[in-house]
Parts: sequence; structure tokens; C-alpha cells
Amino acid sequence: MQQWTAVLSARSRAHSRPNPHALGRHGVRAPAMALAVASLPSCRRAGFALCAFAMTQHDFCLIIDFGSQVTQLIARRLREWNVYCEIHPFNTVDDAFLTARAPKAIILSGGPGSVPEADSPRAPQMVFDMGVPVFGICYGQQVMMEQLGGCVESGHHAEFGRAYIEPASGHAGDTIFKGVFDAGREQVWMSHGDRVTALAPGFEVIATSPNAPFAIVGDHARHFYAVQFHPEVHHTPKGAQMLGNFLTLAGFSGDWTMGAYRAEAIAKIREQVGDKRVICGLSGGVDSSVAAVLIHEAIGDQLTCVFVDHGLLRQNEAEEVVTMFRDNYNIPLIHADESDLFLGELEGVSDPETKRKIIGRLFIDVFQKYASQIEGAEFLAQGTLYPDVIESVSFSGGPSVTIKSHHNVGGLPEKMGLKLVEPLRELFKDEVRALGRELGLPASFIGRHPFPGPGLAIRCPGEITREKLDILRRADAVYIDQIRKHGLYDEIWQAFAAILPMRTVGVMGDGRTYDYALALRAVTSVDGMTADYYPFTHEFLGETATRIINEVRGVNRVFYDCTSKPPGTIELE
Ligand code: XMP
Repeated sequence: MQQWTAVLSARSRAHSRPNPHALGRHGVRAPAMALAVASLPSCRRAGFALCAFAMTQHDFCLIIDFGSQVTQLIARRLREWNVYCEIHPFNTVDDAFLTARAPKAIILSGGPGSVPEADSPRAPQMVFDMGVPVFGICYGQQVMMEQLGGCVESGHHAEFGRAYIEPASGHAGDTIFKGVFDAGREQVWMSHGDRVTALAPGFEVIATSPNAPFAIVGDHARHFYAVQFHPEVHHTPKGAQMLGNFLTLAGFSGDWTMGAYRAEAIAKIREQVGDKRVICGLSGGVDSSVAAVLIHEAIGDQLTCVFVDHGLLRQNEAEEVVTMFRDNYNIPLIHADESDLFLGELEGVSDPETKRKIIGRLFIDVFQKYASQIEGAEFLAQGTLYPDVIESVSFSGGPSVTIKSHHNVGGLPEKMGLKLVEPLRELFKDEVRALGRELGLPASFIGRHPFPGPGLAIRCPGEITREKLDILRRADAVYIDQIRKHGLYDEIWQAFAAILPMRTVGVMGDGRTYDYALALRAVTSVDGMTADYYPFTHEFLGETATRIINEVRGVNRVFYDCTSKPPGTIELE
């Protein structure tokens, strides 16, 4: 569903590209539970059948989000320990929620608030009274101390960046520190304004840093721990270990594995779908591929995939997708070759946003046309991922319920009266890859670089012509081949060629050329929100430029794009 997701989300992007500076207060979490999902107005409107994926039988760790920019990372760290967790905004967690969900442990995230300020966020008091281990991070530490009888002060306590902590005397052997202080002191990442000045009863200092006398405090009897730094970020190298130790203390068994997930997801799909038919938009991207194979394993021929070929795919891409799914997996697949339609409507259009809008609109029309031919279809499968369903915490106007997954839906399920099957809704991208491996998908599919829904259209600035697309496809294939041959593919988040809207003069043999210029782009990134250009060697760049110019007629000049994001974006349009 990557392309499906991609094209539909491109429609919203047409109005606002994500602002890389505004990573903002997301990081808050997703209602993977029936209660929360049912309370979302747009879900009710659409009557989505999400509940089949809503409740989990696994040990559950609740993350209460106070609006930190990095709350999602807490969830990722916990998942690395095979622990199921969900993030919920502080203002959606109440006693009824806690009773119904019965978390085995609770983590309080950081956040931009200031505990001494009136009306700053708090955790429900029940969090501390229900007898489960609690771990407070940064703002979460301060909330914990304040609510349990300690003291927090604002003032000149701000500390940002690297710091080094050491265990307090007699605490090096504490279970929470297992494997943490092997080197005596440990680097941590601080980012806070206020700080704790008096401990709550029952707590003691168990680690300090030169500027943070309460770097880690703990109440071993209750398994309450609170840290002033951020253990969830990479700059706290042993932070994941410390969180893992907390999970062990809390009694988690690490039962969230992809093998178990696969079996449960299959059972849930069967239960949800019954004997009805499901349509799945397939792009060949990781998410839609994994969703399709999983659903096919669950319901076999009740699944039909629709692969919309908009004529903006890479070299051999359509054939590869069709061969893999139709021939290798025997999944009923409609190959909707609508390239004439798309390229016809794009003729003469050079404005990037207009291109995106045209592609988004046509994609929906085409998908609907083919989907409506599938008799008895009641469900639409989507490769929605956990980060797509993240809510945002708003400190000014109550909980803000912007759910990204609706960008994917694009109104189509309502229009067609379809219910949604979203078997990946609880997973992060790397977990989807793990599930793909579990399902036996080829590594080449699982490790693919992301490819945007509007396809080559946004790698062809200016007017799109078949000639330019053809040159671009061939040049891109040479470039990717070079990257693979040099063993660099997996180090790079995304690499592609773009054909520039200009011709330049060159000399080949003894003749003058007047051909297209090409830009090569390769970036490293974690999530596509920020990115850095990949530092190829000069030898690599020289060799690649030579190969492209020799092997691809129509190109006589190659540039390498050294722009990071921000200020650039990954794609050229
Ligand atoms: P930008 O160009 O915004 O891209 O830095 C960030 C990531 O998003 C991909 N991208 C898209 N993905 N639909 C998508 O699903 C789109 O319309 C779209 N535009 C860009 C891009 O390839 C990169 O991975």
C-alpha cells in the first residue's frame, strides 16, 4: 500500500509539505485499542472495522505522553525488548482507562511543560497507586516527584546536551544498572529547564552527574524510577539497556515477537473478514507488500490486489511487482496499466503541486474503477503503520486528534462503502520489515528504498515527457546498480536520479552534444523528516557519472546533490 498511501497522502501534501523545522509535539501515540479508536469521530463516521486489531493479549506497557518530541523513541526502544507498548496523551488517560487496560508498567515521557506552573500536565494519581512499576523521564521525573511529595523548581537549571552520570555510592550493583556502568560513567543526553530539588518520600538518589544531583532517583521497593535525562535517544548509548532493565524488573516476558504477531494477525484477519472479499492497493513498496502477503496467508483468494501503473514507475518495476505477486505468490492481481491516462493528463504541466494533485485525483478514480469490478468486496486493506495513527498533544486547546491515517484513506472507503483492514497498524516500519522476513518475502523487496506515490513525476522537474521519463529510468537503473555494486545500498535511506529541466552543451567523440543534465541524490535519514546527503567518494561519483553518460543516451552532464534536509527536501518536487 505504499504507493496507495503515498499518492493519497500526496494530496494532503499538496496543501502543506511537512515542515522539517516543525517536528513539533508529535510523538504522541496511537490508539491501537478499541476504546480509543471508537472514540475518534472520523473513525465512527467511516465505521472502520479497526477493532479486530485493537486489543492485544500481550503484556502491555503504557507510555503516557506529555508532549516530548521524542516520545516515539521510547516506544521503539521498548519494542526492541519485544515488549508491546502504546503511547497515549496524558489528557486521554484516566482511571477508567487504567482499569480497563491494566498496564503492567507505565512510563511517563518528557514534555515541554513546567511542573511549577499552574495548569501544567499531571499524570492521573492512580498511576502511582495501582501497584505497577513506573519510570519517569525528564518532565516525567518532575511530575513523579511533585505528585509524590517532592519538590521541583524552575530557574537557572537548564541543561542541554551531553552529560556523564555515575552511580551513587553503593548503587553500582542495582538491577536497574545491569550492563549500564561497565565503563564507570555513562554518557546521557540532557534536555531540561526545571529540575527536582527535593525527593519524594521513599526515593533515594541512585546516580548523579556533575550538574544533576538527581540524575536518577529510585524507590526500589515500588520499582519507581525517574531520570532527568533522555534514555530513549541514541545519544544515551546505554539508555535502551536501562529501559530493558526496568522492563525486567516489571516482569515483562518479551512476548511481542513477529512470529507471534503473524499468527495473531492472521487469526484476526480471518475473524474480521469472514467469507467476504478484500481489495488491496499494491505498489511493490514494503508496507503494501507485507500487508498483501499477510492477508493472503489469512484468507487466500478472497484477496484481490490492484496495482495501479501510472507510467511513473522505475525501470522494470511493474513487471517485477506483477511477477512476484501473481506468479510467485499466486495472489489474484489486477494490473491496471493506466499510464496513458496519467501521462496524458500531465502533459504540459510543470507546476509541482498541480502534478501531485492530478496524480492523486486520477489514482483514486482509477483505483475505484477497478475495485468496483471486484464483486462482493467489503473490505479495503491498507498498510497503515503505527506512526501514521499518532495523535498530537496540544497544551493550549485540549487533546488534538489529528490522525494521520485518514490521509491514507482519502475518503475512498466511505465513498465505496468499504471497511478497512489494517493489519500493520500496530507496527513500526522496522517491525514491518521483520514481519516481511518472517513471511518469507525476498530481502530485495524488504530492504527497498522508499519510493514516493507520485513516482518519477517529482523527479522530473518541469514538464514530463515520455522521452525524459525514459532517460530518467535508464539513468536511475545505472545509478542504483552502481550503488549496489559498491555495497552501499543498505547504508543509504534513499537514492535516485532526477532529470533536470535543462540541456547543456558537451562534446562526445569529436561532436557537440546538447543533452539533458541529471542530478543524483542519495541521503541518509531515520524517518525521512530530516536527512543528510550521502558522502560518496569522488571515485564513486566519477565512475557513476561516466557510466551514466556512456550508457544512457540523452544525458551529457551529471551533478551530485549535496543538500541536506532541511533546507532541501529529499525529492526535488
Ligand atoms: P521529501 O521530499 O518531503 O520526502 O523530503 C520525504 C520522504 O517522503 C517521500 N515522499 C512521498 N511519499 N507520497 C509519499 O508516500 C508522496 O507524495 C511523497 N513525496 C515524497 C520521499 O520519497 C521521502 O522518502
